[in-house]
Amino acid sequence: MDTAQFISKSSIKSIEKASFTWQTPSNIALVKYWGKSNPQIPKNASISFTLNNCHTITTIDFQRKSNADRVSETGKLVDFDLFFEGKRKEEFKPKIAEFFTRIQEYCPFVFGYKMTIHSENSFPHSSGIASSASGLSAIAMCLMSLEFKLNSELSQEFINKKASFLARLGSGSASRSIEGPLVVWGKHSEIEGSSDLFGVPFPYKIHSVFNKYQDVILLVDKGEKQVSSTVGHNLMHNHPYAETRFKQANENVTKLSKILQNGNLKAFVNLVESEALTLHAMMLTSNPYFILMKPNTLEIINKIWEYRLENNSNICFTLDAGANVHVLFPEEEKENVCQFIENQLAKYCQKNHYICDTVSFGATKL
Ligand code: DP6
Repeated sequence: MDTAQFISKSSIKSIEKASFTWQTPSNIALVKYWGKSNPQIPKNASISFTLNNCHTITTIDFQRKSNADRVSETGKLVDFDLFFEGKRKEEFKPKIAEFFTRIQEYCPFVFGYKMTIHSENSFPHSSGIASSASGLSAIAMCLMSLEFKLNSELSQEFINKKASFLARLGSGSASRSIEGPLVVWGKHSEIEGSSDLFGVPFPYKIHSVFNKYQDVILLVDKGEKQVSSTVGHNLMHNHPYAETRFKQANENVTKLSKILQNGNLKAFVNLVESEALTLHAMMLTSNPYFILMKPNTLEIINKIWEYRLENNSNICFTLDAGANVHVLFPEEEKENVCQFIENQLAKYCQKNHYICDTVSFGATKL
């Protein structure tokens, strides 16, 4: 695999101080990534909608170290302080430190700087919404802004590609949080330009019915997950249905690619819900087995099915690795569906909380 293209050239310029701020979104997978090999290589291709309102804003201040400091730091860990919502967060540091270790080969310039990272999420911290995708993609964009300052010959296309490549090394799904509105990650014979190393914007013309597609996230359980995604991915290694699942996911990418181009919403609903339930079926059938859905997750699913039938609607749900439900629907159904959610689904959410979001275009420099 061609990872050499991502190793930064030794910098010609010397920059003492710099600061960059990026806002990057969360994303919701339609065909799921579940199962990987080292280093962060997915077992199947996945495809996601990029969100808008669920995002992270991150500023990194870079301060160049003195020569003496740089020499003494060689071979040591990358030097950074981390603040989350204004407070120092020691407990978040190991994941970020691990990320810097994985990317140091591609961004050796990070050793030359002391970094101060300030990060905040638009969604409540303990909402059960995974913040690793938006969090790590924001750090990746800040690093690419510095790399661009050190080497202004980099093209925008390369910057996005490398940012996705770096973000992937932090968290697989983060590779899909740089661009939008639809991103494919994982090599797939029918998606031109697709790669296991980084996400690419869906390369074909998308039917207009998917413009401004809506995602309302019902916060069923805001608690810490009992089983992390990383543990879940690992349980796919000796899973009896793993190979069939990876094959099915790739076939679903082929099917979804056609649906996204022809706008067949009935087929979209069927495929997206089947993917969500299959993801959870993999959890139910792994060993050790586990259940991340809650009773209210099922109540909501049943209500969505009832509503769809009664109203000839194209509403559907998807799930990530947790109990929260993402309710997806076309923009033209917004008024009716939002009323249905407020009147009939909000009561299944913790403190009646839900977040209204729209599919969007990815990272923004602030
Ligand atoms: C169920 O990207 O969180 O949301 O690579 O270990 O950080 P790591 O896993 P992560 O897994 C996401 C799993 C998922 C499906 C998806 O987003 O495709």
